[in-house]
Amino acid sequence: MRANRRPVKRKSPPPVPVRKLNEDLMWSLWRAYSLVAAIELDVFTRINAGKATAREIAADAGANEAAMRRLLDALVALGYLRRAKDRYALKPLAKTFLVRDSDLYMDGAAMIARGLTLGWMQLAEVVRTGKPAVQEDSEARARQFFPVLVRSLFPANYLAARAAAASLARDRGHPITNILDVAAGSGAWSIAFAERFPRARVTVLDFPEVTPIAREYAAAHGVVERYEFLEGNLRAIDFGRDCRDLVILGHIVHSEGPEWGRRLIEKSAAALRKGGTLMIAEMVPNDARTGPVPEMLFSLNMLIHTGEGDVFTMSDYRKWLRAAGLDNVRTLRTAAAPSPLIFATR
Ligand SMILES: C[S@@+](CC[C@H](N)C(=O)[O-])C[C@H]1O[C@@H](n2cnc3c(N)ncnc32)[C@H](O)[C@@H]1O
Repeated sequence: MRANRRPVKRKSPPPVPVRKLNEDLMWSLWRAYSLVAAIELDVFTRINAGKATAREIAADAGANEAAMRRLLDALVALGYLRRAKDRYALKPLAKTFLVRDSDLYMDGAAMIARGLTLGWMQLAEVVRTGKPAVQEDSEARARQFFPVLVRSLFPANYLAARAAAASLARDRGHPITNILDVAAGSGAWSIAFAERFPRARVTVLDFPEVTPIAREYAAAHGVVERYEFLEGNLRAIDFGRDCRDLVILGHIVHSEGPEWGRRLIEKSAAALRKGGTLMIAEMVPNDARTGPVPEMLFSLNMLIHTGEGDVFTMSDYRKWLRAAGLDNVRTLRTAAAPSPLIFATR
């Protein structure tokens, strides 16, 4: 409360939307928390299995019926469910991504959202000190965090990758046979390419705690017999020289930061055959670094959770790609990825 207020004299309403403040301060967070709770209670999977009323869903979840009804009605308002009389049903977004036995289930998404909140609550302190709140990129911590994170990333990245693979198939005069998926996570990017290019063999590079996840997803997609696995730290592992048709850097440059990110691009470029393609999937803000919102928030997310991580502009990428001996830099917008994907040719 402010003490000693002066008398209010305003005659007309202020020309700025106060509603936006409520959206940004409260409602956007509450949206996230409602969804996290629904996922933690497995509401969507229970409805998919045939539980339809608040009573049935609450009983199945071991929850309070009246409280569950309020959560379900909020999920109707948020666009994840619809309700006819007292029966709830899934809308397509929930059915596709939030039901456990869907092949596009966002496994672990609620845990990641909840986990990241702890760091975000300390943003003011991070800005005061310039030091991360929780450093996810210290190797031991990363090895616990990434196995959960990469599963949650699979659906969106796999859908973007399918669009990328279709586009590359149209562009290229010759087939892709040798793919290196650096920091592959679940293999979301390379799996789509392996499906599109049936002669392609894929090398996945990641920590040994993560490669079994790529193996699992590649097996589920019927391509695992064309996969091999390189385990260890990408900064130390040899990528090979002049031997790859496609090198994929999927959401790894941001956490490596400007110095190691640039070196990673150089090392990837050197691994390509003449005519080979480097694909980078990243959050890319405008050159002035004033938007879009998700990309600028992601920059803060890196500030909170990493020592060197950040988002980089298209100008940064063009400079690094050119310096690494690549040209024909082009981008592809997909429905699933926030920023356009970046391609360059050796
Ligand atoms: C944000 S995830 C991206 C996964 C995947 N490329 C995707 O886009 O869905 C980052 C991945 O990089 C891996 N990673 C991070 N630092 C690494 C390092 N130094 N060496 C090897 N892998 C690393 C993590 O284990 C994780 O799988």
